[in-house]
This record gives sequence, structure tokens and C-alpha cells, in this order.
Amino acid sequence: MLSGGLGTRLRPLTYTGAKQLVPIANKPVLFYALESLVAAGITEIAIVVGDTHAQIRAAVGDGSQFGARVTYIEQDAPRGIAHGIAIARDFLGDSPFVLFLGDNFLREGIVPYVERFRQGECNAQILLYPVPNPQDFGVAILEDGRVVRVVEKPREPPSDLAVIGIYMFDHHVFEIVPRLRPSARGELEITDTIQGLIDAGYRVEAPIVQGAWIDTGKKADMLEANRLILEILQRDVPAHVLDGDSQAHGKVVIAAEAQVVNSVIRGPAIIGPRTRIVNAYVGPFTSIDHDCEIVACEIEHSIVLEGTRLCDIPHRIEDSLIGRHVEIHRSPHKPKAYKLMLGDYSRVEVV
Ligand code: G1P
Repeated sequence: MLSGGLGTRLRPLTYTGAKQLVPIANKPVLFYALESLVAAGITEIAIVVGDTHAQIRAAVGDGSQFGARVTYIEQDAPRGIAHGIAIARDFLGDSPFVLFLGDNFLREGIVPYVERFRQGECNAQILLYPVPNPQDFGVAILEDGRVVRVVEKPREPPSDLAVIGIYMFDHHVFEIVPRLRPSARGELEITDTIQGLIDAGYRVEAPIVQGAWIDTGKKADMLEANRLILEILQRDVPAHVLDGDSQAHGKVVIAAEAQVVNSVIRGPAIIGPRTRIVNAYVGPFTSIDHDCEIVACEIEHSIVLEGTRLCDIPHRIEDSLIGRHVEIHRSPHKPKAYKLMLGDYSRVEVV
């Protein structure tokens, strides 16, 4: 599992946190990946970490909370996905393995693909997903169901089939990786690795993923992944969390230690532990993490991270991804003006 990278498209959140720990329905993206691996019977897991290793270690620990045994391998700089394979050589030995990029989200998991790889006779299996913007991904060309070529982020994509960030290899991959040279972006590319296997005559299969896949690098992708998880939640609203003046409609999950006062929650939505919702409206596709306060405002289709306080906002908040310990409130002081203290690369749209 790879969990390094800079997360530039999720700044400023990623100045202070790993992109793989940004939550979807109040659970870090990376945890979905770990759960997918364990569900497929893979419990010996190495996580390749970079600058954010301390946070990843703190969140994942020894893996026992997932029923896995997790070890960490430090990558000194983002040198590419194939470099991640190279430095995991001792851990992997000659075993076949799954390589899972920690920011890739596959809602229905990987069980059928791992089964297929275990039972089949191919040397590598990549997963494909039709996308409207193949130029942003590795792209595969198939002939009679076999992969004949993969290209990294082609300006003129030869197909709409993105190679997603979940790969399976046997030990033959170690014949290819040492021969790779850094690409124009200075990385050892996974697409060059796959192409190397094909050129060496190894069998690479490429099922097309059924179900939902998201590469969660940007705000819109996070919101989409959040939607996909919230809509399959089972309603769970402990009776004591709502006061007599509050309502929770539809698929709503509220933690037992949360408090909802004189408010309407319209699901799908999730409210984390110790969060207080007071005189507020929380609309569909919203995740509010733990220890937040949402007071006298309306919020919909948004993700709010832990410890954040939104108070007395005159317009509804929508399509937003709000970080940890953020404070937004209406100021009673004159002059009447926006007063901001925002980190680098913050984005605010005012009405
Ligand atoms: C990487 C791979 C690319 C793949 C993508 C999936 O891109 O290089 O082939 O399609 O992951 O998430 P990166 O995220 O490093 O730009």
C-alpha cells in the first residue's frame, strides 16, 4: 500500500495532514483501502510512507484494529509508484501481491479481482475504469481483451480506460523494476513497469471494474466519494441525541455522544462523536466529524473535519471541504466586512 505523496490538489488541508487521512463519511480514505485488503484475505500489509509517516502510523498503528499486521517502509522522497515496489522488495519476497494506492477508493472492494488473480495464470492484473478524462491517468489499450499497451497521462488518449491505482503482480515484476529510468516527472512509473512486463512477454490481464471507483485527489472527488458512502449507510440515530424540537430524516447516522438541538438533519448525513448541532440545518450528503459545533447555520453536500466550529452564518454552506479546527462565525463588530485568516492555497467563494 502506498501512502506518500504531497497531496497538492488538496491544499491547504494537506499542509497539516496526509491526503490519505482526509475522511469520507468520517473515516479516512486509507481505512477503506485497508479494509478492502483484509476483506480479500490480505492481512500482511506494508505501507510505504513519506513526509506524513508520523500521522499515518498514529492512525493505523500496528494494523490490529483492521485485523491486519502492518509494517512501514519509508520512502525518502516521492520517487514514484514503482520505486515503492522496489523498496518493498524484502518485505514482499517472492509472494504475489496487491499494490494499492492509499488515495484510491473502490466502494465495492477488491475481492472478486483478487480471487481472479489467485486462480488465474497471469503475471499481473491491472484494473480499468472508463473515465471522461483519461488524459489524467495511465491509459490502457486492449486487443482481444489483452492489454497491449499502457501510457501515462497521454495528451491524446488512445482509449477512455483509466488504469486505476490497484495492481496485482507476481515476482516477475522484480525483473522489470530495476531496469526502469525516471520519467519526465522524475518518477519510476508504474505504467512503464506494466509495459515492461508486456514487452517481456508476461501476461497482463485487465478486468474492467464494476461499481464505483474514485481517485480522491481533489475536493470534488472527496465530495463524490462521500456521497457514495453516505447513500449506503444504515440509519442509526440513538433516541437520546435528538431533543424534542429536532428531526432526522432518512439515512442519518449520529454518534451516541453527539447532541442535536432544535435542528433538522436531512440524510444521507453523518454526525460524529461529541459534535453539537444547534438551531441548524444539516442537509443531504454531509459529513460532520467529531468535536464540531454547527450553530445557527445551514450546511449541505459538504465535509467538515474534526474540531471545527461554524456559527451564525447568514447563507447556506454547500460543496465545501472544511479542515480541522476551523472557525467561521459572524462578527458583531463594525465595520461590516469579511475578516479572514486563511492558510496558503485556501479557496473561499463569497456571495
Ligand atoms: C498514478 C498512476 C496512474 C494511475 C493513477 C490512479 O497517477 O501513475 O497511472 O492512473 O495513479 O490513481 P498519479 O496519482 O501518481 O498522478
